[in-house]
Amino acid sequence: MRAEELMALGAVVPVVVLHDVENAVPLAKALVAGGLPVIEVTLRTEAALESIRRIAAEVPGAVVGAGTIVSDQNVKDAAAAGSKFLVSPGCTDRLRGAMTDSGLPFLPGVATASEALALLEHGVTAMKFFPAKAAGGAPYIRSLGGPLPQITFCPTGGITLETAPDYLALPNIGCVGGTWLTPDDAVKAGDWSRVEKLAAAAAALR
Ligand code: 3PG
Repeated sequence: MRAEELMALGAVVPVVVLHDVENAVPLAKALVAGGLPVIEVTLRTEAALESIRRIAAEVPGAVVGAGTIVSDQNVKDAAAAGSKFLVSPGCTDRLRGAMTDSGLPFLPGVATASEALALLEHGVTAMKFFPAKAAGGAPYIRSLGGPLPQITFCPTGGITLETAPDYLALPNIGCVGGTWLTPDDAVKAGDWSRVEKLAAAAAALR
């Protein structure tokens, strides 16, 4: 699957921070039931890799990937855990090389035209735009689309259900990402019906 195809699977990619592996499967099932099959588990917690393993093995319909990829080792660990895609907050030549070598679709992070051009030189046309709101939001990404219409972005960072439509209305947006679908208090409480409702509201945006 190409990264552009991945972005077409859902309007919103839930960005998930899991502290307890026991929450991984019920949380992913709630997101899939709500209509969001693509799930990014961030490699920011001890529980992340085992969570990816469990979701990949136990949640039919989920397309689980790894976020917060910042090193070659992260790429190897994420691939070994069964990740279907990779997402990084920024990118270097070395990281791009490692992600390309993995054979998995990936969304390398950029926030400027120069960073986007550096990836474009290597044939990469799908990118994460981060941190979306702080870097200039939808107007900024719209502006990048003038000279760089061949790039499709997945903006993340500071996006909410209310602001997501501003991004999704742009021709150079594949999908948006965010943590708002899995609030910490809902996850801690195991309130999966709330997560499913948040996912359903997000899925309805497209
Ligand atoms: C991330 O990769 O951390 C995302 O940008 C999540 O940002 P958010 O918490 O603002 O949605």
